[in-house]
Amino acid sequence: MAKTILLINGSPRKKGLTNSLCQIFAEKIGNLNLQDTDAKITDIIVEQIALGDFSIAHCNACDICLRKPHICPLNADDDMDALAKKMRDADAIIIGSPSYFSSVTGLVKDLIDRSRPLKMAKYELKNKYFAPIVTAGLRAGGLNSVQNSLIQYALIQGMIVIGALGHPVLMSNFPTETGQKLDLKDFRKPEEISSLARANCEALAERFWSILQ
Ligand SMILES: Cc1cc2nc3c(=O)[nH]c(=O)nc-3n(C[C@H](O)[C@H](O)[C@H](O)COP(=O)(O)O)c2cc1C
Repeated sequence: MAKTILLINGSPRKKGLTNSLCQIFAEKIGNLNLQDTDAKITDIIVEQIALGDFSIAHCNACDICLRKPHICPLNADDDMDALAKKMRDADAIIIGSPSYFSSVTGLVKDLIDRSRPLKMAKYELKNKYFAPIVTAGLRAGGLNSVQNSLIQYALIQGMIVIGALGHPVLMSNFPTETGQKLDLKDFRKPEEISSLARANCEALAERFWSILQ
């Protein structure tokens, strides 16, 4: 039986750096599926979405989601029902976000806040696997803050945070990339992902692939 990873690009720029990391992750899983000839091994389907394609209203704190049947009235007028269904149906969720003033993007924050009913309805996302993918313009641009926000979000929802097991000295658990290269004014384009970020994305894909078997 196939398993699904919902891979969410939370940048309004659909073809930016965050998308490039998501692409590398998805391609690696695809290759792992192809390489595996053992019929017992499960196929992993990656459903990639760009949050910018969805309309998500801001939570207005009406608190109706606290009470049964835990349905947000805003769902009637935007795309949150469809997004919540994708999250519920997935075996694993990855959220990619650029650093915006060292926080997640507004798009991602709206998704997070509007997913409150899923928690209130007895932790509907519990036990799904989760990982963050984070980018920033600057090398000191808040990558860790954004990563930690996303990890906290996953834990609060009862998800299981999964990190890559790449090179123990040279690599980190979660993929990150910065626009700024080594020199002050030297910036990378989305098609110029560094070998380290690429390796981290691929190692994360390998970890998800093996955990979802
Ligand atoms: C509103 C806004 C705020 C930003 N804040 C930061 C920041 O605090 N630190 C940083 O390094 N980059 C910041 N950036 C730059 C983005 O994080 C960076 O360009 C990122 O790679 C964009 O990802 P994308 O190409 O997937 O859209 C900001 C960009 C915008 C539009």
